[in-house]
Amino acid sequence: EITPEFIQGLPKAELHLHIEGTLEPELKLELAKRNKVDIGQSTIEEVRQAYQYDDLASFLAVYYPAMQVLQQEQDFYDLAFSYLRRAAENNVRHVEIFFDPQAHTSRDISFETVISGLHRAIVDARALNVDAELIMCFLRDFSKESARKTLLEAMPYKDWIIGVGLDSDEHNNPPLKFARQYEDAAAAGMHLTAHCDIDQKDSIDHIRQALEIMGVERIDHGTNIVEDPDLVDFVVNHQVGLTSCPLSNSFVRPQMKGEEILQLLSKGAKICINSDDPAYFGGYINDNYYALADQFNLTQQQVIQLARNSFEASWISDEKKALYL
Ligand code: HPA
Ligand code: ZN
Repeated sequence: EITPEFIQGLPKAELHLHIEGTLEPELKLELAKRNKVDIGQSTIEEVRQAYQYDDLASFLAVYYPAMQVLQQEQDFYDLAFSYLRRAAENNVRHVEIFFDPQAHTSRDISFETVISGLHRAIVDARALNVDAELIMCFLRDFSKESARKTLLEAMPYKDWIIGVGLDSDEHNNPPLKFARQYEDAAAAGMHLTAHCDIDQKDSIDHIRQALEIMGVERIDHGTNIVEDPDLVDFVVNHQVGLTSCPLSNSFVRPQMKGEEILQLLSKGAKICINSDDPAYFGGYINDNYYALADQFNLTQQQVIQLARNSFEASWISDEKKALYL
């Protein structure tokens, strides 16, 4: 029923996309050469062979070490511009991009180097008809002191940062660990979201903390929420966005979670479809829509609603939203 052409034709927003997760094997090898970094692989096949993971921890163990090839401002520019070109090809008109400053500052790459390269790519991508913003994620397995320092480093660039998020290893790292940093970020005018990953220990508790105590406007992943009808009512009533990533789910989580996505969609939750780390999970946003639509027999109406939700859950102005709704 649903064809790739139908999905291609829909204007979309992407709200759950880690820029470091768009590092394709080709660019990884090019940057390794440019910066004389030995990554232990020298062909695309060898890079791909190293992509062995079946859960979040084993994925993160491949994902973070690979970032050492990112060194110069130009590297961050090339990474972001390559992604934004792919986004434009996928008919993505608006994107809110996660980046992990601590994954770079912990390697002595300056905050300024990272954000300058990303921001310059965003400015240049306006010519491609893609409008992009940055969401700064705290690494939740780092200390709250490290998060505090990162937020201070971000302050001179706060006009370039639309919000904050929380990613990396969730085990024993609940949202509340960063309550103070979320308060400070909100006071600086930033929006709030947090990963509450699927089937993690305490995931329902994490969702509840993020929503009820920290006031997040979106939950990244979070489809476990179907286990708690009161929390589902809360996200429906408060129009909280839920950013799902079907191909990522099928790679590093027990399954795609299509039933949960459709259940939340039918209840009126602002759930949308995203690619998470497309260079690692076998597809960009249209591939994610298609995989879900194909395996779960979605109707055109359902696919259209998912795409509308992506704009409704976004942090663009109401005037801009009206262009897409
Ligand atoms: N969860 C946690 N950390 C991440 C993810 C994710 O889905 N993607 C990239 N870093
Ligand atoms: Zn993610």
